[in-house]
Amino acid sequence: MNAVDIILAKRAGQSLSNEQIGYMVQGYTAGSIPDYQISAWLMAICWQGMTAAETAALTMAMVASGDHLDLRLATGLPFVGDKHSTGGVGDKTTLVVAPAVAAAGVPIGKMSGRGLGFSGGTIDKLESIPGFNVNLDREQFIAAVKNVGLVITAQSASLAPADGKLYALRDVTGTVESLPLIAASIMSKKIAAGASGVVLDVKHGRGAFMKTLAAARALAETMVTLGGQVGLPVRAVLSSMDQPLGLAIGNALEVGEAIATLRGGGPADLWAEALALGRELLLMAGVASDAADADARLNQARDSGAAFDMLRRMVINQGGDVRVIDDPALLPTAPIQMPLPAPAVGYVAALDAETLGRASVALGAGRTVKGAAIDFRVGFVLHKKVGDAIATGEPLLTIHAARDAAARDIAPQLLAAYEFSATPPLPLPLTNGVVR
Ligand code: URA
Repeated sequence: MNAVDIILAKRAGQSLSNEQIGYMVQGYTAGSIPDYQISAWLMAICWQGMTAAETAALTMAMVASGDHLDLRLATGLPFVGDKHSTGGVGDKTTLVVAPAVAAAGVPIGKMSGRGLGFSGGTIDKLESIPGFNVNLDREQFIAAVKNVGLVITAQSASLAPADGKLYALRDVTGTVESLPLIAASIMSKKIAAGASGVVLDVKHGRGAFMKTLAAARALAETMVTLGGQVGLPVRAVLSSMDQPLGLAIGNALEVGEAIATLRGGGPADLWAEALALGRELLLMAGVASDAADADARLNQARDSGAAFDMLRRMVINQGGDVRVIDDPALLPTAPIQMPLPAPAVGYVAALDAETLGRASVALGAGRTVKGAAIDFRVGFVLHKKVGDAIATGEPLLTIHAARDAAARDIAPQLLAAYEFSATPPLPLPLTNGVVR
């Protein structure tokens, strides 16, 4: 067996065997197959797709690249929850929903990713908190679930290391948008981390990797089925990502917005999305009797300050500087803050989240080369979203940049993300059902 033959077979549209898929995943994890061959293979998968059997084999090969935890056994807790998003722009939901759910009585042990293509990643966001350690080993991960009730970590040498390597490569090789690659990436992490139940946020629309509701539903069904095959209960909330979630885009800016939301402020859509996801976990854990009860418990966790306190405890436990949680003004801040004025009067009719996501990467919030450093400070804060009335010259958003020239250069791209109308557009839905 060799990598070239396997790349050629996939390029020709053939189904690969479990052995061929395992050979590629193991070889890449061990370092015997180089980046360039795996990049070609990933691109062939993007074009040719994979059958359900191949997707399951890829997922399980990625799980087998490291340890496989059972958090219930390891912690002695009755239920440990997990949450994952397929990726979006301004999607800082994990930083809100995970502390809220943990504070409502369902411990969370979660493995997250870095930025991927035009979408941000929770691990990059958390690293904008000085000192925050995303690299926990198995024992530290288990201890944090048990003692704190909330832990968010990156892939490690022990848990789904194959996904860590493939994810970083996909980020910079144009190989993100693929149903089997996304499904295997997410589900390998979820299966390896060994939660008792998982809620997935499967996004569709302009700022998502799945552009249509039908594609998102197919991805959700694939992941729910993969969970079922290994006895892991999975529910997938289908959510719209036509415009960014909340107002902040960019790592430190999003952490600030998540903190504000946990303190009872923040944008309404972000808390609504957190409720839609958190509710499923509380129901799966048997902590809430129905959706209304789950929402009441989550609102109570937020309003009492317990959810915010849970975030603080996680940050302290993982070595982060908790002073920035108490005072988000201490988060890294860009030296340039430039408003983008509206060129017309009327209403915002559309706001292309992907264009904004790509612009944030260009500004330095994401990577264009594997392993590159990112600038935690940069991004955008939206002042106008779909349906908002605008007057000429009013700021549509504020650009947070490292240099004046960078802010000026990105402005035309940002303006191109907005569409305007003379009459108010129809409101955009936030969620479109749950796949169970
Ligand atoms: N999140 C992941 O972990 N992997 C993907 O491929 C997309 C979103």
